[in-house]
Amino acid sequence: MNVRHFLALSAAGPDALNAMIDDALTRKAAREGLRKGARDADAPLDGYLLAMIFEKNSTRTRVSFDVAMRQLGGSALIMEAGSTQIGRGESVADTARVLSRMVDAIMIRTDDHAKIEELAHHATVPIINGLTDRSHPCQIVADLLTLAENGKTLEGLELAWFGDGNNVLNSILEAAGLLKFNVRIAVPQGYDPDAAFLAQARSNGARVTITRDPAEAADSADVIVTDTWVSMGQDHAAPKLAAMAPYQVNDGLLAKAKPGAVFLHCLPAHVGEEVSESVFEGSRSLVFDEAENRVHAQKSILLWCFGKL
Ligand code: CP
Ligand code: NVA
Repeated sequence: MNVRHFLALSAAGPDALNAMIDDALTRKAAREGLRKGARDADAPLDGYLLAMIFEKNSTRTRVSFDVAMRQLGGSALIMEAGSTQIGRGESVADTARVLSRMVDAIMIRTDDHAKIEELAHHATVPIINGLTDRSHPCQIVADLLTLAENGKTLEGLELAWFGDGNNVLNSILEAAGLLKFNVRIAVPQGYDPDAAFLAQARSNGARVTITRDPAEAADSADVIVTDTWVSMGQDHAAPKLAAMAPYQVNDGLLAKAKPGAVFLHCLPAHVGEEVSESVFEGSRSLVFDEAENRVHAQKSILLWCFGKL
């Protein structure tokens, strides 16, 4: 079998994505009452080792992959780029070839998406995208899982996004095309998501609209989503913050969505900026389920990469 890299959601495709969600739901339910560090009964990754390379900060991705590997019976090690030879300029190609001799899979969080593609090109073990400036596919598996466990049917779902057209939105668009849900995007002029992701979602049959009017996007939506206005590696530029201000998710905006609409945010959040405290802490907010689900989603992603799903 070819090496299964998870650089993008489309690497898996719709059937595998649905299988990941189902498996995560099953494994999560089966762990009821277990300690967080306890192994799943079948320990399917016994003996497997994951290396995690971080060129950017992380709390959820870092801990959830580590916990996921432990629960699946394997283990993980962390490489902070700054204290490795990568940080001193050792090539991506050599890093890929060396690590492929030592570990069973590599997760990397980096800036330039080309770097992860180069890593995958030279590696002989699965490479997992733990976030780049372009996309954040692992996050979206957790988001889809969170929606599924809250009774949302993904096909035909109306998801509304507010604020910055960033890496997380790009991956939502990719998922929309694969699983046939619709995306209303309310972002200021100049902050649209990547044109290639927009085109791909539309050509795959998702209805995607872009508006400068947040109320229009929120109208009768099933899911309200936002993310930080300033992603890692970006400047806190005053003009950008000013442009984003009308796109805050607050009670007024949520009131326009369907009565059963839920709120998602990948975290970390900047409460008072992209989301009001009332929405963030309110009953429609699933943000901490979403964060927990990173663990369950990572397990499905890892199992898929190792051909066990
Ligand atoms: N949502 C997310 O990826 O969080 P971290 O940056 O903490 O990993
Ligand atoms: N868009 C954010 C997501 C953080 C998980 C960033 O790239 O910083």
